[in-house]
Amino acid sequence: MSTNDQVTTEETQIILELATKTLTIEGDYVELGCYRGDTSILLGKLLAQHFPATTRSSPSDSSNPSDPELGNYQLSSSSCGKPVENQWKTAKKLWIYDSFAGLPTKTSEDSSGAGQNFQAGELLVTKREVITKIKKAGLHNIIVKKAWFNELTDKDLPSKIAFAFLDGDLYGSIKTSLHLVSPRLSPQGVMLVHDYNNPELPGSSHAVDEFLRQNPAFRLQVRATLAILSRS
Ligand SMILES: C[S@@+](CC[C@H](N)C(=O)[O-])C[C@H]1O[C@@H](n2cnc3c(N)ncnc32)[C@H](O)[C@@H]1O
Repeated sequence: MSTNDQVTTEETQIILELATKTLTIEGDYVELGCYRGDTSILLGKLLAQHFPATTRSSPSDSSNPSDPELGNYQLSSSSCGKPVENQWKTAKKLWIYDSFAGLPTKTSEDSSGAGQNFQAGELLVTKREVITKIKKAGLHNIIVKKAWFNELTDKDLPSKIAFAFLDGDLYGSIKTSLHLVSPRLSPQGVMLVHDYNNPELPGSSHAVDEFLRQNPAFRLQVRATLAILSRS
């Protein structure tokens, strides 16, 4: 399975495992902080395989079954079984968000002795680059939104969310992401927050711990640097 420089191979496997588990839950998938779109492509391929009606496949499409990038998380694997019944009327889409202007400015919650990386404007890619990558992958199930998270409004988000990958690195970005996604999360849905307990990005843990104090219905499980938040 290929990975990218933002998420480890172990984390990618966990993301795909939980994304696979939520295939039968009502709602779309979201990724807040898509950067170059590497994880987005994997999630898009996963959805395309399980909801084939959403993709106009061609022989070169990477969304065809037996895509090595998906490792065990594909239709040919016995763990995944048959395509998901389209019980929610429309097949799932993946909505991805980024400023496409890099990171915003850190706040005091983000200060860390572990490094001076992650300054404002770092991790800048263009929306065009990401759209080109999605087209090259043959995917037609990804909606790309360019915005600062705190400028997103109701119309920018799916009304129901089954799976969310929140990867905005900084306290304010994760706090806003949790605030946007949690009210739309289906009862059995899952939110994954990256960089939990990552000493270089303490703002992620601050935002998650604060959210848990304010939302006791959610419970926390930690795997690698992923905080997995769910109500069950
Ligand atoms: C670590 S990267 C995301 C990596 C990506 N999830 C992946 O798996 O490859 C963080 C991204 O979040 C974006 N970002 C962070 N805070 C943001 C905010 N408040 N609004 C919009 N984008 C933000 C940055 O521009 C950057 O591209």
